[in-house]
Amino acid sequence: MTPTKANNFQNQEETAYFGYRRVPAGEKGRLVRKHFTTVAARYDLMNTLLSLGLHHLWKRTAVKMLGLKPGDRVLDVCGGTGDLALLAARIVGRAGRVLIYDINRAMLAAGRPKVARSPLAGSILYLQGDAERLSCADNIFDAAMVGFGIRNLTRPDAGFREMHRVLKPGGRLMCLEFSQPTWAWFRWLYDLYSFYFMPLAGRIVAGSSQAYTYLPESIRLFAKPGELSALLEDLGFSQVRYRRLINGIAAVHVGVKS
Ligand SMILES: C[S@@+](CC[C@H](N)C(=O)[O-])C[C@H]1O[C@@H](n2cnc3c(N)ncnc32)[C@H](O)[C@@H]1O
Repeated sequence: MTPTKANNFQNQEETAYFGYRRVPAGEKGRLVRKHFTTVAARYDLMNTLLSLGLHHLWKRTAVKMLGLKPGDRVLDVCGGTGDLALLAARIVGRAGRVLIYDINRAMLAAGRPKVARSPLAGSILYLQGDAERLSCADNIFDAAMVGFGIRNLTRPDAGFREMHRVLKPGGRLMCLEFSQPTWAWFRWLYDLYSFYFMPLAGRIVAGSSQAYTYLPESIRLFAKPGELSALLEDLGFSQVRYRRLINGIAAVHVGVKS
């Protein structure tokens, strides 16, 4: 089902993948923004439906792996509707801060009522902007995380480089992202599910089958856990390790800014 083995980190000057389509690099950001504007209102519902609720568990596992402490300053890149930020806020508490950073106003707006209901809403801040050019000073965060977001960037390496820049020395990175099952038979089932059920559910629930065709395609073209670890090490993160979730449907990477 994958037309070519593409590497998101190569040949990024002129073109980028949007799903299986090669588009001018400048065009990808616009298409991604349109995609999330289309799905924003139903984003949380679709996540729960498509993952059978497992995304909540994956997010808890991922935030736990980040090793946060009370009082920490945390950046949630591509934070969307704020699930990871809410989990982080529970740990960093009132003395800490979590900044949700996302380019899409509709996604931020969709998550605001949920965040506002939390007793820790006062610890959560918002900033709308591009993850590839964070409008934050150098060396200010204790931890930075990105959940299901890095795959959507035109230049994922630029996003990681920016996270590295804004982390304090010794600051911790976490990346939770979809990947692919390691067992061939499970991958085959997962492909069937992804390429037939996901677009159908997207059409019925979110009003767009196209949006949920982009999702499995972009997952298939994204770097494998080993490749992602190598990239993070190249970018200056140390102690990089990863954990596969449900045989690799998702993977959590963590690392430390040396
Ligand atoms: C799949 S959602 C993930 C939301 C949330 N982190 C979660 O785990 O549910 C991806 C998010 O990345 C955001 N995004 C995509 N490109 C971005 C960019 N260049 N800069 C900042 N955010 C971006 C989208 O607007 C969207 O909210």
